Parts: sequence; structure tokens; C-alpha cells
Amino acid sequence: MATLGLASSLPLLLLVIAGAGGARWRGEGTTPHLQSIILGRCAEHVALLNPEQGEKNCTAIWEAFKVVLDKDPCSVFPSDYDLFINLSRHSIPTDKSLFWENNHLLVTSYAENARRFVPLCSVLYGRMGDFLSWCRQENASGLDYQSCPTSEDCENNPVDSFWKRASMQYSRDSSGVIYVMLNGSEPTGAYPVKGFFADFEIPYFQKDKITRIEIWVMHEIGRPKVESCGEGSVKILEERLKEMGFQYSCINDHLPVKLLKCVDHSTHPDCALKSHGEREAEGEAGSLKRPRCGT
Ligand SMILES: *[C@@H]1O[C@H](CO)[C@@H](O)[C@H](O)[C@H]1NC(C)=O
Ligand SMILES: *[C@@H]1O[C@H](CO)[C@@H](O)[C@H](O)[C@H]1NC(C)=O
Ligand SMILES: *[C@@H]1O[C@H](CO)[C@@H](O)[C@H](O)[C@H]1NC(C)=O
Ligand SMILES: *[C@@H]1O[C@H](CO)[C@@H](O)[C@H](O)[C@H]1NC(C)=O
Repeated sequence: MATLGLASSLPLLLLVIAGAGGARWRGEGTTPHLQSIILGRCAEHVALLNPEQGEKNCTAIWEAFKVVLDKDPCSVFPSDYDLFINLSRHSIPTDKSLFWENNHLLVTSYAENARRFVPLCSVLYGRMGDFLSWCRQENASGLDYQSCPTSEDCENNPVDSFWKRASMQYSRDSSGVIYVMLNGSEPTGAYPVKGFFADFEIPYFQKDKITRIEIWVMHEIGRPKVESCGEGSVKILEERLKEMGFQYSCINDHLPVKLLKCVDHSTHPDCALKSHGEREAEGEAGSLKRPRCGT
């Protein structure tokens, strides 16, 4: 009995020791099958989703990308992705850009694979990096599958530099009405004053191509509203855009997006749909409470 117990806990013990010594960085290690995933996403995007967006050579795009996999994981700069972006970029339809912070999964589902909106993760270059991680080992060739640096480890890491470069391009190529989805339930504020949107997107807006900016502050169903339009960090954003000379508006819980959130909270009172009949009845009941004048 005792022997059996020791034997079965030994692998666990070894795993703990290996884990404690192995992870060099704070971020997730390189995604297994990175090359297959990126090539597959590229082929799918080019062949199925956007056949009209010009000739794209996925092999050449991958070759431009993988240059960073030979570099020190703390010495990869946004400009290292210039050729990759040059080969993979394509135009974004007017009025279809959707910027966001702290809403990744909601944006992905609302965008509907670029059918409804075209956020960065629906553009070819953004799609290829979505949810992936990659970096070379620190002092050796070959990929690090255990961990990769985050901004806390070092600023010029492969993944952050990718999203900085991709964000800059996405912003430069956006036109018409610009939509921005923020999370009003985020405790640290809906608009991170240091973040990809603040530092790598807003500064690259092409003012002459933009008609107006519409901000949506979404709140989690049944959770406290931390910030709404005109409050806290949202106000800071509104003032920044005003100073830059943009026409902007802000909407709390933009209804089409709220309806999508309600799919997961259909019985919550905030998600109750009122039929036309009920609304009228409510109106009548309301009018009964009004003080009667002149009688
Ligand atoms: C695609 O790019 C690869 C690598 O640069 C090159 O060898 C190949 O000829 C290109 N294919 C086409 C169709 O241009
Ligand atoms: C890519 O780079 C070449 C050479 O610098 C430039 O002429 C071309 O316009 C760029 N293409 C895109 C789509 O940015
Ligand atoms: C919004 O922020 C809250 C608090 O951080 C988080 O729990 C929630 O998942 C976020 N919503 C979305 C759609 O990401
Ligand atoms: C890489 O080399 C540097 C300098 O020799 C050293 O300080 C560091 O600990 C090494 N890192 C790893 C993971 O071996």
C-alpha cells in the first residue's frame, strides 16, 4: 500500500520540480503547431472569407513572420513585422472598424467573422496572431514552449510588438464611422489610459478619413456598473477625442451588443424583453398614477 502511494505520487513530484525551475517568463509558451495554425488561418482567410482582397502568398507571409522566431525574445521590435504586415495587409471596409479594450470574446462573437464588423482580429494579419503566443528560447535557437515574455518581463517581446505593429496598421487603414467597445464593468477603468487603444491606435487615426467616433460602454449583466459614458476614464477618452477635433458620441449598453450578452443571461430581469402590448399597458398604468388636473 505504502509503495503504491509513493509510486503514484512520484510523477506529480517530478512535475512540480520541473515546473518550478522551468518557466523563465510570465507569459504562455509558444503555441504548439504555430506554423500550421498560422498557415491554416491564412489559407482559410484568403480562400474562403475574402477572395476579393487581392493575391496573398501565405508561404511568403509565414516566412516574413518567422524572422522574429530567430531573435532574442526581449529584442523583437514592432518594425520587425513590417514585411509581414506589408505582405498581409488589406483594406478595411468603411464604417466597419471596431476598436475595443477588455472585451475580446464579445467582440469576436459580435463581429461574426467580419460579416457584421471587422475588428483587428478579423483582418488577415490580426487573425493570424489571435490567441497565439510565440518566442525563441533565451540563449538558444528553437522555440520556447514553456513560457514567453510579457510586458512585465521586457517591453520588446515578440507578442506585444506584433500587436503594437498590427494595431498601428489597423488604425491607419480605418475610415468612416469608428466604433469603440469598452467594458464598463472593468474595475481598473473602461478606457485604459496606457494600452493598445490609447497608445497604438488613437495616435494613428487618419483624421481626414474619419467621419465620427461612436463609443459603446458595455456592462456585465447583473454586475455593478463601474463606469458609464461621461464618467472616470471614459470621460478622459471623450476629452482626448474632443481635443483632437473628432466628432464623437457615447452610448451605454448599445442594444444590439447587449442583446448578444443576454444570450447567456436570458432569465435575468435586465434581459427581459417587453412586447409592444406590455409596453402600452405599462404606459397606461403609468398615466393612472399621474395627478389629475382640473377634475
Ligand atoms: C510565394 O512565396 C514563396 C516564398 O517567398 C515563393 O517561393 C513562391 O514562388 C511564391 N508563390 C507565388 C505564387 O508567388
Ligand atoms: C510594401 O512595401 C513596398 C516596398 O517598400 C511598397 O512599395 C509597397 O507599397 C508596400 N505594400 C503595402 C501593401 O504596404
Ligand atoms: C468585462 O470586465 C469584467 C471585469 O474584469 C470581466 O469579468 C468580463 O469578463 C469582461 N467582459 C468581457 C466581455 O470581456
Ligand atoms: C542566458 O544568458 C545570460 C547571460 O549569460 C544569463 O544571465 C541567463 O541566465 C541565461 N538564461 C538562461 C535561460 O539560460
